[in-house]
Amino acid sequence: MNLAVEVAGIRFKNPLVAASGTFGYGIEYEGILDLASLGGIVSKGLYLEARDGCPTPRIVETPSGLLNAIGLQGIGVRNFVRDVLPRLARHDTKILVNVCGDTVEEYAEVARILDAAPGVSGLEVNISCPNVKKGGMAFGGDPRMTFEVVSAVRRATKLPVIPKLSPNVGDITVFARACEEAGANALSCVNTLLGLVVDVESRKPRLAFGTGGLSGPAIRPIAVRMTWQAARSVQIPIFGIGGIASASDALEFLIAGAQAVQIGTSNFVDPGVYERILSGLRDHLARHGLTDINQLVGTLQYPGDAPRGEARE
Ligand SMILES: Cc1cc2nc3c(=O)[nH]c(=O)nc-3n(C[C@H](O)[C@H](O)[C@H](O)COP(=O)(O)O)c2cc1C
Repeated sequence: MNLAVEVAGIRFKNPLVAASGTFGYGIEYEGILDLASLGGIVSKGLYLEARDGCPTPRIVETPSGLLNAIGLQGIGVRNFVRDVLPRLARHDTKILVNVCGDTVEEYAEVARILDAAPGVSGLEVNISCPNVKKGGMAFGGDPRMTFEVVSAVRRATKLPVIPKLSPNVGDITVFARACEEAGANALSCVNTLLGLVVDVESRKPRLAFGTGGLSGPAIRPIAVRMTWQAARSVQIPIFGIGGIASASDALEFLIAGAQAVQIGTSNFVDPGVYERILSGLRDHLARHGLTDINQLVGTLQYPGDAPRGEARE
């Protein structure tokens, strides 16, 4: 039975990848699970320099989800390359790095540094963080800026470039196409949805930053819909992301057109989620008489609509 997939020219041994910001830099999980059982790991977001992120409280629980405003706290790309990457690269899994910047030039510079770093398989370009005042969603919410940032990263590296799209837009297909035109090799779909939780006693936001990004099962149907729309609008492959906690959740994204998926908030609930989903995927293939997970990709039978394979030819 084949669970291996290829995204952006990178071969993942299975379609499960840890999502950025929910799995530390990867090495924090060394004693908790076998990192080699994952298809891949996306690092926390990295800028050129270290950052403190937002003041606390930075996380609040919501029905079936989390609202966070971490604000991309991090150690900076050079420290990552020097201190973390050599240790992470010892594990037999693919490493993607989440690239951030306050300016287009900063994105390109971070990409240039990672281009020369052994052990990195690809760059996920974070143009969709809702919790920073500059960069982030300000770039990913404007198709022209999206094109500009992705083009600059494209020019700065030979590594596969994977922009991470924001769900806080009207028509995600416009952004998916802007990324493809700028030379992206794949897309990550999606980041968190902008939300607000109010403390009714103090009448203040529950997060110190104010608004935050909503994640977890609460956002899954929106993320599946956006993955489906993005997959139909471009030729490049897609990581589906949003609220995956079970094999059936992961299968929804694959059937909707994603080649692989990323798991975020579930890491906080159950680090055994990868093993559980992998065994569920094998069961599903066996029950449906299939031998390869790729046979399921884009097979959604949408009423009155051509299946993706036909639509793309
Ligand atoms: C605490 C937290 C931190 C996150 N940090 C990042 C980040 O650094 N870069 C990024 O691109 N996405 C970040 N995300 C977004 C996730 O990678 C993912 O896209 C989102 O949470 C939806 O997936 P999920 O519902 O499985 O969590 C973060 C999410 C959470 C909950």
